[in-house]
Amino acid sequence: MKKTTIQIILVCFVFASFIFSLAPLQAVAATPEPVRGKHAMVASQHELASKIGIDIIKKGGNAVDAAIAVGLALAVVYPEAGNIGGGGFMMIRQKDGKTFAIDYREKAPLAATRDVFVDKDGNLIRGEGSSTIGYRASGVPGTLAGFDLAFRKHGSGKITWKQLVQPARLLAQNGYVLTDRLANLLIAFKEHLAKYPDSNRIFLNNGKYFQEGDLFKQPELAQTLSRVEVQGAKEFYTGKTAQLIAADMKANNGLITLEDLKKYEAKERTPLRGTYRGYEILTMPPPSSGGIVMLQVLRMLEAYDVKAMGHNSAAKYQVLIEASRRAFADRAEFMADPDFADVPVANLLDKTYLEKRRATIDLSKATASTEIGHGQIAGSEGTETTHYTIADAAGNVVSNTYTINDLYGSRVTAKGTGVLLNDEMDDFAAKPGKANLYGLIQGERNAVQPQKRPLSSMTPTIVLKKDGSVWFALGARGGPRIISAVMQSVINVIDHGMDIQTAIDAPRVHHQWFPDEINYEMYGMSPDTMKILSSYGHKFAGRPGNIASATGIMIDDDGVKLGAIDSRSDGEAIGY
Ligand code: GLY
Repeated sequence: MKKTTIQIILVCFVFASFIFSLAPLQAVAATPEPVRGKHAMVASQHELASKIGIDIIKKGGNAVDAAIAVGLALAVVYPEAGNIGGGGFMMIRQKDGKTFAIDYREKAPLAATRDVFVDKDGNLIRGEGSSTIGYRASGVPGTLAGFDLAFRKHGSGKITWKQLVQPARLLAQNGYVLTDRLANLLIAFKEHLAKYPDSNRIFLNNGKYFQEGDLFKQPELAQTLSRVEVQGAKEFYTGKTAQLIAADMKANNGLITLEDLKKYEAKERTPLRGTYRGYEILTMPPPSSGGIVMLQVLRMLEAYDVKAMGHNSAAKYQVLIEASRRAFADRAEFMADPDFADVPVANLLDKTYLEKRRATIDLSKATASTEIGHGQIAGSEGTETTHYTIADAAGNVVSNTYTINDLYGSRVTAKGTGVLLNDEMDDFAAKPGKANLYGLIQGERNAVQPQKRPLSSMTPTIVLKKDGSVWFALGARGGPRIISAVMQSVINVIDHGMDIQTAIDAPRVHHQWFPDEINYEMYGMSPDTMKILSSYGHKFAGRPGNIASATGIMIDDDGVKLGAIDSRSDGEAIGY
């Protein structure tokens, strides 16, 4: 062989080795490894909150204690969604195998009526007075009542309430350094935050705005937390905080009164149980729709070999989207607060019923949403949010999702409290049959009624191994897209064998019946797959966007906890 030929072969060999050596690196770099913790793990959307949770566990607290401390800390360091002015759901799986679902969803004030958000011409009110912005948009907050219930019934007993509130109070009092993301996000919401004096002063620095690196202090919130620290959660509902909220509401044509606050109670609900390919799934019952919709879709999907179809294939998306379309149609008709409406949970999850619904799916044709109504069930019975997951060393797991609904909720900070209030009233059907903030259409059962809880999509979920121990727990933020994110992460683990981080990071889709379009992610679907789905008659949303963001923890066979924060969002999983 000539010298030049040998040189060319050598160069080609070196080049090929270089390319092949890159390939696995690129595959690994696409999604990070989950964070490992031999004993415990806290995965939340802020490093400071996760650290506080781990500290509580190290001091002898359990996952429930840590969940309360993390939730209070997020109210300070993650004000877009962390809160004491909103509400949520906490799923608890105890080490002894008992499961609990705490409902601390907001309630409509006593003065709220069916048409409170509709003007005299029958149109939905926009801006101040609407279900999304301003004083009338808030339901009665449930977060502190929920945390108090969880603490009293499920806390370790080794940590005091004061120890749980103090870290959050200190963060509000002493401040923390603003990240670029939070500083810019506050400015992005200036238009509405500026309308409310306390929001303008606290979050917009009186129009001078905050920059990355500023020390961000919230003295009024620190005072509120200090009262709650000393007097307990009841202070928020009957003490000075309650009086301040009620007075500000009264002065601004709001609906929440002292009586509303005094009457608020968090509730324990019976967790919703279902299975997917033999694995038990524990999730949130109504007033969340999340658990039912997810279990309906999963049950319909069991008829297909999803694993063989492949993760990102047109075949899989076709059945997933069609099943979602049908489940969301049922959501609109049947789901609401079970204390006010008959939610036919068992019928909606009945195998025969769902097989009938599934049988209408055509594998190569989209069904127009206008042709899909809710199913005929036999008889009758009953942008923004944040999720965190915690596993302690003893084997207790908490999956908690809570919210003030839209980013920065109603944008109102109740005067003198530092508490940003929710706009959860928009999760009611403000005008049954008309779309809400998320484009969701909802029915009469979810109409506004005094003391009722608005229907939610929050889906804190725990999946068990076949021996009954916890396999993984997760949840997400993102309105109705939460359901799609949680459900597809579950499918990714069970059908596609992914670890928790890969399952959460993998591209996903969302279809909620109306608007009749597939929401998809940037680079989430190949042009070929989109072409095939279009040829079936599907329409795509005008542009791609993230389908919610999730956090979760998986427990491996050696008991090691693997924490995962969605690469779509910020946050930190911390283990030890
Ligand atoms: N506020 C969003 C939800 O509860 O679904």
